[in-house]
Amino acid sequence: MKVSIFGLGYVGCVGAACLSKLGHTVVGVDINENKVRLINEGKPTIIEEDIAELCAEAHASGRMRATTNAAEAVAASELSLIVVGTPSSKDGHLDLSYIFTVAGRIGRALRDKEQFHVVAIRSTVLPGTNERVCQIIEQESGKRRGTDFAVVSNPEFLREGTSVRDFFHPPLTLVGTDNKRAENMMRELYKDIEAEFIVADIKVAEIMKYINNTYHALKIVFANEVGNICKQLDIDSHQVMEIFCKDHQLNISPYYFKPGFAYGGSCLPKDMKALRTLAHSLDVDVPVIESIHPSNERQKEHALETILSKGKRKIGILGLSFKAGTDDLRFSPIVDVVERLLGKGCEIRIYDKNVIVSELTGTNKDFIMAKIPHLQHFLTSDLAAVCSQSDLLVVANKEREFDDLLTQYPQKVIIDLVRQWSEVNYDGYYEGLSWGDINLNSEAQHQPVIPDFLLPDY
Ligand SMILES: NC(=O)c1ccc[n+]([C@@H]2O[C@H](COP(=O)([O-])OP(=O)(O)OC[C@H]3O[C@@H](n4cnc5c(N)ncnc54)[C@H](O)[C@@H]3O)[C@@H](O)[C@H]2O)c1
Repeated sequence: MKVSIFGLGYVGCVGAACLSKLGHTVVGVDINENKVRLINEGKPTIIEEDIAELCAEAHASGRMRATTNAAEAVAASELSLIVVGTPSSKDGHLDLSYIFTVAGRIGRALRDKEQFHVVAIRSTVLPGTNERVCQIIEQESGKRRGTDFAVVSNPEFLREGTSVRDFFHPPLTLVGTDNKRAENMMRELYKDIEAEFIVADIKVAEIMKYINNTYHALKIVFANEVGNICKQLDIDSHQVMEIFCKDHQLNISPYYFKPGFAYGGSCLPKDMKALRTLAHSLDVDVPVIESIHPSNERQKEHALETILSKGKRKIGILGLSFKAGTDDLRFSPIVDVVERLLGKGCEIRIYDKNVIVSELTGTNKDFIMAKIPHLQHFLTSDLAAVCSQSDLLVVANKEREFDDLLTQYPQKVIIDLVRQWSEVNYDGYYEGLSWGDINLNSEAQHQPVIPDFLLPDY
């Protein structure tokens, strides 16, 4: 393919050399004449393992050159990658001015171009940038998105130091687009890269890099805090974390990684507290571990606020135990929410097939009686009664028996804490606690939700 790459820094230089190696013809574009000269001499603009050899090879093959002329590069290519810098601005926001300048240049270059053109944003940008880049290109080119050009989001996952290896062996290739033609061109671009090719919603692709990097940072500080506690106890933290990483069922796995309701039960809150207290006693500061409990409490508050914001008094709670398939009510987060709703004067009905008041015993019984002493007045084994007599239904446990709610009760307000459905087509009102609109039947879904102030003007 014929590819233009805007920005010849770390990502751009590696991309230019590696795409040439894969057989594509690449023209790099940069405002820095020195970088353009280096590429045209077959030399890298950066220092990285293997990059000098790759640049020399690409240059010798005649498949890599560079220019400062954006229009010429766009005319000579069918696909443009944007990899200019996105530094932090003085006020801490992201400075997207380089991205928008390049979008303007590509737009003006497209005025005279007949061929369909794909623009792929590879720089790390905030959600909403793709839409703004589209607007700029439409404005500057007079062409129509979707038919004359498409802007896709294609975040870069490489790490400096191992960037050439990472380019050829990425964890995955992610393309955010709703345009089939553009998707096919991106598939063609990366056809020789052995990695899963994932097509996602544009905003999903845009936010991905931030989620990845924040999680990587979290891993580092978590391991460091574990290490600091272990050191005080003369425990080898490396052995601890090595064993930790061997558990691919619960630790290094998708388990516990689904946005939804707060954690509860008899183990997590108790053991979390014990480790925190141990760290205190050892005089070890563990700000990340300390922040887990407050964050969990905040999620309960968030559920309460979401429920109350709908202005309904008759509320049905579907699931009371701390997770599906158990009658364990100890530290069940929905119990706290119910307690608060009762305090606000709401009329509560609760259904949980596993919870039978007369059969509760021991610490389980003690816990719930201290929180909701008259539980038997609110709890019923009649799911239909709870649903028909309530205006708002809260799905608090993921049970198969709640699957049909949407068809059986088409006009309710439903607050889903557990992502009972992957997608809904509901006549009533549906809201998930921690995910965007998934109701195909909702007009709200089609309204732009990226606040304008997040992105600077062009
Ligand atoms: N460096 C990394 O390891 C890495 C990894 C993944 C993603 N990213 C992201 O990729 C993007 C680029 O990062 P980088 O490290 O390569 O940046 P960089 O600063 O090394 O390179 C950016 C290049 O863009 C050029 N440029 C600026 N304005 C231009 C314009 N109008 N036209 C053409 N070129 C222009 C600059 O001269 C520079 O050469 C950033 O968004 C970054 O966050 C970086």
